[in-house]
Amino acid sequence: MSGKHFDKAAAGWDQKLRRVEMAAKIAAAISSTLPLNKKMIALEYGCGTGLVGLALAPQLATLTAVDTSSGMLEVLTQKIKDEKITNVTPLRLDLSQESLPERFDLIFCAMTLHHIKEADQLLARFCDLLKDGGYLAVADLKTEDGTFHGPEADGVMHHGFNPAELVKTLAKFGLNQVAVQNVHSLVKTNDAGVERAYPVFLLTGKKG
Ligand SMILES: C[S@@+](CC[C@H](N)C(=O)[O-])C[C@H]1O[C@@H](n2cnc3c(N)ncnc32)[C@H](O)[C@@H]1O
Repeated sequence: MSGKHFDKAAAGWDQKLRRVEMAAKIAAAISSTLPLNKKMIALEYGCGTGLVGLALAPQLATLTAVDTSSGMLEVLTQKIKDEKITNVTPLRLDLSQESLPERFDLIFCAMTLHHIKEADQLLARFCDLLKDGGYLAVADLKTEDGTFHGPEADGVMHHGFNPAELVKTLAKFGLNQVAVQNVHSLVKTNDAGVERAYPVFLLTGKKG
């Protein structure tokens, strides 16, 4: 899916119940796994309309919500305005092209890694952007057969991931306490008309 696809999909993004349910499960799993607190300076990468980030923001000091889709960020900006949220800042940025000067206590990324060609490079960047003692949380699809998005989808760089491989990658980048858990099973009718479940994992780790 290209940036344009997400721009177009943004206005109706939250209308799909399965997305809202999945985001709630991911947010709940991050919240129950990591010691979130109101002093944390956090970054979300691939924030979309903020389904995960806005659920976690009340437990954090600040959240920088990053995405490359201006359409997604417009929807998020409107929610921030409507709900008078003061600690979330939307930011359009591609971390595979440029970095940020700040360092973070928490970085999380939900259902976005499979859209990133150089996924390992992005994970390395996340690790660089964490403060010592900071936490990373990445939720995504387990390896699937390509039916999740279907053959027409563009911008899908990975058909999910083998979480065990990602555990090794994060350990190689110096994260400790790297762990993986299943957090959701997304039921979807694929392009072949077959209903099936796609498991979603949450990978967490701590720097230093
Ligand atoms: C499947 S959506 C997930 C949105 C949100 N995390 C959620 O769970 O509802 C993937 C998001 O990743 C964003 N995205 C795609 N490629 C990206 C990139 N290279 N850098 C940052 N965000 C990207 C899209 O614009 C989209 O908002």
